[in-house]
Amino acid sequence: MSHIGSYEERVKEFDWSLSETELDYKDGDVLNIGWYCTDRICKMGKADKTALIWEGLGGQEKRYTYNDIRVASNTIGSFLRGLGIKNEDRVCLFMDKIPELYFGFLGILKIGAIAQPLFSAFGDESLLVRLSNAETTAIVTQRKHVSKVRKIIDQMPYVKHVIVVDYDGKKPLREREIAFSLEEAAPVDEFEIYPTKAESPSVLHYTSGTTGQPKGVKHVHYSLISQYLTAKWVLDLQEDDIYWCTADPGWVTGTSYGIIGAFSLGVTQCVMDVGFSAEAWYKFIEKHKVTVWYSAPTAIRSLMKCGDEPVKKYDLSCLRHLASVGEPLNAEAVIWSERVFGKAFLDTYWQTETGSMMITNFPGMKIKPGSMGKAFPGITAVVLDTETYEPITEPGKVGLIGFKPGWPAMMREYWRNEETYKSKFINGWYIPGDRSSIDNEGYFWFTGRDDDVINTGGHLVSPFEVESALLEHEAVAESAVVAKPDEVNMEVVKAFVTLNAGFEASTDLELKIMNFIRKKLSPLAMPQEIEYVNTLPKTRSGKIMRRLLHAKEWGEEIGDTSTLEDDE
Ligand code: PRX
Repeated sequence: MSHIGSYEERVKEFDWSLSETELDYKDGDVLNIGWYCTDRICKMGKADKTALIWEGLGGQEKRYTYNDIRVASNTIGSFLRGLGIKNEDRVCLFMDKIPELYFGFLGILKIGAIAQPLFSAFGDESLLVRLSNAETTAIVTQRKHVSKVRKIIDQMPYVKHVIVVDYDGKKPLREREIAFSLEEAAPVDEFEIYPTKAESPSVLHYTSGTTGQPKGVKHVHYSLISQYLTAKWVLDLQEDDIYWCTADPGWVTGTSYGIIGAFSLGVTQCVMDVGFSAEAWYKFIEKHKVTVWYSAPTAIRSLMKCGDEPVKKYDLSCLRHLASVGEPLNAEAVIWSERVFGKAFLDTYWQTETGSMMITNFPGMKIKPGSMGKAFPGITAVVLDTETYEPITEPGKVGLIGFKPGWPAMMREYWRNEETYKSKFINGWYIPGDRSSIDNEGYFWFTGRDDDVINTGGHLVSPFEVESALLEHEAVAESAVVAKPDEVNMEVVKAFVTLNAGFEASTDLELKIMNFIRKKLSPLAMPQEIEYVNTLPKTRSGKIMRRLLHAKEWGEEIGDTSTLEDDE
């Protein structure tokens, strides 16, 4: 059993006020995540404790204390405020995992603005869709990503400032662009933090659905109450831990647990801004003596694929606790990690909308490899009958996951999309859109998503977005996009296309189309395979039947297609 007690003890008499008390928060108080993650930790006597160890290409290393990150976030916040950015304005962070991303995030929250982190590998189209929806006021970025912003800036009159954090003076900046250097700016020691309250908006993350454009998931400062406690209990973060969350803050894990959870607990965390390689990862763990590691199934399967030998080259005995999120964590990966690291990865389930962990393997709890674990204390989780939306009581029967609304980190809205937000609640339950069963001991067993969204390597890709982008290619007449099975990423994007007259199916064209999507959307959304077809299966009214193509890819029974041919 871990130092936080047993799962059963924690469930008994659970109340979120536990977290509020630890954070010295009372209903109605000012609550600002930026302050909680920096100033408060300094006030608690940990100003000189290392907050962030950052490693970039070639092993370049930077270290920051809690006082350093307090001052850095003040300095960025002050700069943004000086530009006229005010509370509730959306400020996009479009950067690699450089220190300014972390401090910028906290600085934006300190001025009461809304942080809108976007994955730096996004292409101009992905960027435009998300910035237009949010009507973003400012974009904080790096030199290497400015060209993507420049391509679309004329379509974004609401963007007043593009802040370049590593400007080298070589090429002139353009209209609306401005340089900011954290190293050269005068450090701001005293800063008036905007007095946000529990329900003030904090973070806007975009997530992809089956239809329509990506949705902006709005979170509020009160999310801290869940993020703090789940980080403490599930990640089991303790005073002397060195924590490594491998997620990019362009996605929710990278903010909820790669920034907020750990910093609000005053823990030292490390960040590696280098692409994946098994040896580099093990070396990083050994060098920084990582004790708690939060990662994703695809990364674990990639490590597994590299075999046991690289593991043996490094001293990884520092690892104390491992957890995973984002996609199904297969039993083999759990068993492998236990064998090679001496610790099993504990699966956690949640999503952008939930803001914090919902179903988890609690430290000290019996692990059933392949199961996502049980509901976090204070969370009422059920599986619902797909017809009646009543909870299923029979163990092992698959239904839709349902959560009773009311935990602190729950999204407050889809940005300017009330209709879709409302559609997520049925019969008093929040429906995350996943299927699962529950066994007789309360363990959840994930069986799949309830929509066509592709989860590739833990990242959601909308088939609709890829299909729309494909149609913008001159050769493509029609397109249908589905998931295709993949050993490491579980799913990858596969596109079926029909060609316009005058275009010949060829490998060369396939590569061109792939590259077109990679640049427009992102490497994640790029189809790994394009199949040329003469026609696409359609319903009588002309709707493309993705389900048929999906079933073929997965070798599933297609069943009675007569119903599919009618519009549902
Ligand atoms: O389908 C579920 C899957 O990822 C979705 C959430 O994706 P996103 O909003 O991008 O957030 C990812 C990180 C929190 C879920 O609806 N998912 C997440 N965790 C698991 C999972 N599927 C199976 N097992 C998990 N542990």
